[in-house]
Amino acid sequence: MRCNILKTLAATGAVMILGLSGCKKDGGSNNDILIGEYGSMTGSTATFGQSNHKGVEMAFDAANAAGGLLGGRKLRVLLEDTQGKPEESQVVVTKLINSDRVVAMIGEVASSNSLAAAPVCQQNGIPMISASSTNPKVTEVGDYIFRICFIDPFQGLVMAKFAANTLKVKRIAILQDVKTDYSVGLTNFFRENFIKLGGEITSEESYSQGDKDFNAQLTAIKSKNPEAIYIPGYYTEVGLIARQARKLGITVPLLGGDGWDSEKLWEIGGEALNGCYYSNHSSTDDPNPILQKFVVDYKARYGGQPDAMAALAYDAALVLIDAIKRAGSASPDSIRMALAATKNFPGATGSITIDEHRNAVKNAVVVEVRNGKYLFKESVAP
Ligand code: PHE
Repeated sequence: MRCNILKTLAATGAVMILGLSGCKKDGGSNNDILIGEYGSMTGSTATFGQSNHKGVEMAFDAANAAGGLLGGRKLRVLLEDTQGKPEESQVVVTKLINSDRVVAMIGEVASSNSLAAAPVCQQNGIPMISASSTNPKVTEVGDYIFRICFIDPFQGLVMAKFAANTLKVKRIAILQDVKTDYSVGLTNFFRENFIKLGGEITSEESYSQGDKDFNAQLTAIKSKNPEAIYIPGYYTEVGLIARQARKLGITVPLLGGDGWDSEKLWEIGGEALNGCYYSNHSSTDDPNPILQKFVVDYKARYGGQPDAMAALAYDAALVLIDAIKRAGSASPDSIRMALAATKNFPGATGSITIDEHRNAVKNAVVVEVRNGKYLFKESVAP
């Protein structure tokens, strides 16, 4: 009631400030539905944020071109750069909520950044969807926090099985990034599963995101003669690690997770990565017609192949659009309830059902790096 009066006043142009602070925000003064997006547009994980934004733009532009939502309202995304940093993520999300009055949030990519900003969304009652943060703790922050991807216990199991059953290796070393929740979590899930499958961890070494010299850790790893090295990090460090490993005469395959997913991986690591494998969310080789249409449209718009991150973000935006439509409203609370009820939504990365923990249960793929190409090896169901 109060909200309607204020809206009417705001429409006359008289009391914009009053209107915005009094209303439970429902999407902006000129009737656009305002969605916040926060991502690493710069920094060592910049392709994550950039790909995320491309996926979101494609989904929103298509919905707007088709007439918008809720009787013609347009979606407008307000993008903020986190520089890939947790503190900055918190700052920009606070701004998007308090100053820009967004009704929902898409982001972040990296788990530590999502973990830093999720409490702000939760406390303000703004639903947040991460397209790709896989650490289990992210959605545990509260009932406003969602993701549309699988989580790391599954991803760790997939690579442990791949190593033990497909590559048939028994002795693996681990090199983890102790600065990110993602890498620390995935290390634990991989170790636990690989040991259960009869494998042995020859040694564990660590680094911090931003490091450039990995010679000491790699020398220590080499001295134990592992048959493979598991490196659940992000692409910039992984590329450097691969080069330095080969220089030291380490020839065994390097294994990793979705954090490797970037066209920059090959640019940085080059041939040192040939014959290495990582788990991921999707592969452009998947015949799923929604993915194939996305790949064609993406190529026409941006050139090149979309990475899994772009496809996931496209799906996150589609799921949000679907929720707003089903809610019949752009109020944060109704969006949250509709998101929670998402079932069998046909996405580019597979069918998406949000479970009671606000996660999605989906297949993973294993990809082989070969001469600048990321080749599909196998798909693993949960
Ligand atoms: N899963 C990673 C994390 O949680 C982020 C990521 C997802 C990176 C998909 C690339 C592709 O930190």
